[in-house]
Amino acid sequence: VSARGSEPSAALLEHLRANLGADHVLVDPDVTARYVRDWTGRFHGEALAVVRPADTGAVAEVVRACGAAGVAVVPQGGNTGLVAGSVPARGEVVLSTERLSGVEAVDVAAGQVTASAGATLAAVQRAARAAGWDVPVDLAARDSATIGGMVATNAGGTRVLRYGSMRHNVLGAETVLGDGTVVERLSGLVKDNTGYDLTGLLCGSEGTLGVVTRARLRLVPWWPDAVAVWAAATGWDDAVALASRLRRTVDGLDGLEAVDRAGLTLVGEHGIGVPLRPVPAVGVLAVWRGRGDPPAALAETVGDRPHAVAVGEAEVARFWAPRERVTETIARVGVPHKLDVTVPLGAVGAFAADVHRVAAAHGLDAGRALVFGHLGDGNLHVNLLGLDPDDDRLDDAVLRSVAGHRGSISAEHGIGTAKARWLHLSRSPGELTAAAAIRAALDPAGIMNPRVLRPPTGPGSRAPA
Ligand code: FAD
Ligand code: MLT
Ligand code: ZN
Repeated sequence: VSARGSEPSAALLEHLRANLGADHVLVDPDVTARYVRDWTGRFHGEALAVVRPADTGAVAEVVRACGAAGVAVVPQGGNTGLVAGSVPARGEVVLSTERLSGVEAVDVAAGQVTASAGATLAAVQRAARAAGWDVPVDLAARDSATIGGMVATNAGGTRVLRYGSMRHNVLGAETVLGDGTVVERLSGLVKDNTGYDLTGLLCGSEGTLGVVTRARLRLVPWWPDAVAVWAAATGWDDAVALASRLRRTVDGLDGLEAVDRAGLTLVGEHGIGVPLRPVPAVGVLAVWRGRGDPPAALAETVGDRPHAVAVGEAEVARFWAPRERVTETIARVGVPHKLDVTVPLGAVGAFAADVHRVAAAHGLDAGRALVFGHLGDGNLHVNLLGLDPDDDRLDDAVLRSVAGHRGSISAEHGIGTAKARWLHLSRSPGELTAAAAIRAALDPAGIMNPRVLRPPTGPGSRAPA
């Protein structure tokens, strides 16, 4: 499915202008540039148009019109995705949710909120916190990442070890399916066992089943007290052992992260204070949030190794910086190949060693093969610098190592188009067939993000810059 020649495209554009207003059907390449390039700068393409519907009805009209014209639709929220799922290749309509940005009043009694797809995570956090609640999912791209994008990618982030990923916290959604049908389930019922869980299916669907227009989120308490500890580990095995002990002994762990020496050194060189000197092989960041003081076990567990402690919101935020800002710092020095993977915790050390071995075999020293991530979940982010954007041989070697360790080729970012060719490493033929059947049922014309979550089939179907 793509733009089918100039006449149907012209008619589609005319129809979209008539429905959305010409100001919300963007075709000028200078204006559309930021929508057709991914966050990393590695992937870009061309769109027939970028459209900005303002409500659910308008979204449905765009989907129906594109379906009738046989033109593919690429939903886009904050465009912070890291697997090239939100950008077009050639001739798709990019459906931006930026005008769907409302956050409804927090349901204080239930501890829930309904937000429109284009609301940023930060906006929903502000609303929740003003009501004494908080959003259970958090990630560094909070100022741009949207609720719709987070549902669609089943975003994870830093609080998964305490509260789970989006899938565990989305109670319902309103969605325009691929055939233009609007389905709504926003009552927020915690127990609701009436058949298939369509909302659950949308979590991680990456825009392939429809456009999420609103979501009902579970909220958790806004904890007033916070303590963070950076502790030195001698390597990944030691970091995993430390993390395991913290998880067993500390109630209220709200984050358990790690950054290797290459990452800590890089952020340090860019003026972000790293509280551990000398920089260890792996730095472990443990964050506790609650009411009062953290359990004594937090200090006891790190007491016999080099460590630093932060108390209170402002200091804890400073401790987060070397971890949260690795991503943007990497982007400042190059265009990375990003591989977000999970391996069983017992295999983290062996996998990290594999990464450095295969990276060295491809000519990358440790400073250009950075490993960091959400240690508590066994979720490592491997970032490779200095590679050609469309040379994915090293990506292949790393992802095969993941599969060899019985891990997953995507922990939290999704598959997008960047990892589509490796999907078979994590999904069986039976699962892929079932997924194709679901996709065909909800998007019969095959217009919803067709290159995503599907192995590439022809020239131009993957579009490295
Ligand atoms: P986009 O990038 O716009 O889209 C992502 C995917 O969702 C695409 O396939 C798109 O088609 C689809 N989509 C978007 N909106 C909709 C919708 N309304 N309906 C249907 N499909 C839609 N991710 C994590 O999981 N954990 C992290 O810790 C994390 N940290 C990050 C830190 C930084 C600095 C950056 C840049 C990114 C990080 N990410 C992280 C990745 C990214 O922020 C998440 O994947 C996020 O969920 C994407 O949201 P978005 O609104 O930007 O979506
Ligand atoms: C993170 O946890 O910082 C991210 O998911 C982003 C990245 O992989 O760079
Ligand atoms: Zn992450």
